[in-house]
Amino acid sequence: MGSFGFSSAALSLSLLNSPLSRTRTRIRIRTPNSRMATTLTETTVAHRSEPPPGLDGDDDLLCCDGQKRQRQEKEPDSTLKPSFCSESPSRSLSLPAAESRIERAWAHWTRLGRPKLIVAPMVDNSELPFRMLCRKYGAEAAYTPMLHSRIFTETEKYRNQEFTTCEEDRPLFVQFCANDPDILLEAARRVEPYCDYVDINLGCPQRIARRGNYGAFLMDNLPLVKSLVQKLAHNLEVPVSCKIRLFPNLQDTINYARMLEDAGCSLLAVHGRTRDEKDGKKIRANWSSIKAVKDSVRIPVLANGNIRHMDDVHSCLAETGVEGVLSAESLLENPALFAGFRTAEWVVGSEDSSKDAELDQADLLVEYLKLCEQYPVPWRMIRAHVHKMLGEWFRIQPQVRDDLNAQSKLTFEFLYGLVDRLRELGVRIPLYQKDGHVAEVSADSLAASNS
Ligand SMILES: Cc1cc2nc3c(=O)[nH]c(=O)nc-3n(C[C@H](O)[C@H](O)[C@H](O)COP(=O)(O)O)c2cc1C
Repeated sequence: MGSFGFSSAALSLSLLNSPLSRTRTRIRIRTPNSRMATTLTETTVAHRSEPPPGLDGDDDLLCCDGQKRQRQEKEPDSTLKPSFCSESPSRSLSLPAAESRIERAWAHWTRLGRPKLIVAPMVDNSELPFRMLCRKYGAEAAYTPMLHSRIFTETEKYRNQEFTTCEEDRPLFVQFCANDPDILLEAARRVEPYCDYVDINLGCPQRIARRGNYGAFLMDNLPLVKSLVQKLAHNLEVPVSCKIRLFPNLQDTINYARMLEDAGCSLLAVHGRTRDEKDGKKIRANWSSIKAVKDSVRIPVLANGNIRHMDDVHSCLAETGVEGVLSAESLLENPALFAGFRTAEWVVGSEDSSKDAELDQADLLVEYLKLCEQYPVPWRMIRAHVHKMLGEWFRIQPQVRDDLNAQSKLTFEFLYGLVDRLRELGVRIPLYQKDGHVAEVSADSLAASNS
């Protein structure tokens, strides 16, 4: 499994003791065919006056012209202004009876078109341009990266950089980590109008989560987990979902899942590994435990782990009976996975015959870079995707990777040039498709991404 080692999470510790000031805040939504950031919401919240450490290195700057962006922030577009949740009167929705809650969970899932192919939450990696690339190539829903609920409520800069979305970015799960129900609710209310689920991260196994007491470490405090879910389920209009890991003991996992369902969770994503099974490349996810969870609850369930190509998707759905699958690491290398493209790794030695798909990871990277020009994100996210998508290419021409690593400040010109250089050096590693497979890329999404 990849690292959660992200600077933004580290912020939480330093922010806890920092001076707060009152200021105006905004959530930025981008319209599809314009680079204008649209300010949707404004309210007054506590906000740190100094820029938080870790957001100001060159790689943490947004990949757009800073001056232009500042000017846009002062000239909000008034066309899109949904009511802001924290401005609405506080309400306490009583949980409907269990039966009707389950029905509502399914009705919501059905309204969303029952998405099966889903981009997993990935810190610094499942950001808007990457989600849009995956959607073009078959993803039917996506999670944001995990957002830290406390920092999200406190820091405008964090909100602006870490949560961007656009009209086409649906269905969308917005994921938070939290250990305080009131703070989680405050954060959730800010994103509620722009998503289809507010998701609670109950699966992060990293040291930073242990220190911050969130993610998989909340498995040691189930009453707190229950109160987080109940708080959202009682107070939000949008359903609550949870992403969990397995307990070492299957019955504990089943009891956990049932508790979450009873607390008001409307959808459960199960990563089929325990908290201690951190290395997803070495340790296979346990699909039979996911099936046991699926058979024990009545809400929609998603499976996560071991989804490397479309054959895995079909096997997982058949073996577990879940509604859909999440993929993380494999999508980073191959964002076209859900459209039936596969990397050479899954072709060599296979009995099925495959053909060169005439699409490769450099093509996908160029598409991703164009999306980043349209929907700016911090350079560190772009850098991470370049390494993931072109990792195999760099193994053939390592000096190109060295040149990338030597750039403390990236530009689009440099990155497009880097792809050209690899091509001039004769590097090409195709993606493959099984013979007879037709790429599942819709004409609409092609048109949208080419515009
Ligand atoms: C770079 C990276 C960042 C991740 N960040 C998150 C996250 O923010 N929230 C979360 O619940 N899981 C996160 N994960 C875990 C994935 O969502 C997923 O559960 C895990 O990688 C197993 O799926 P896979 O076998 O398809 O990689 C992350 C994984 C990676 C590789």
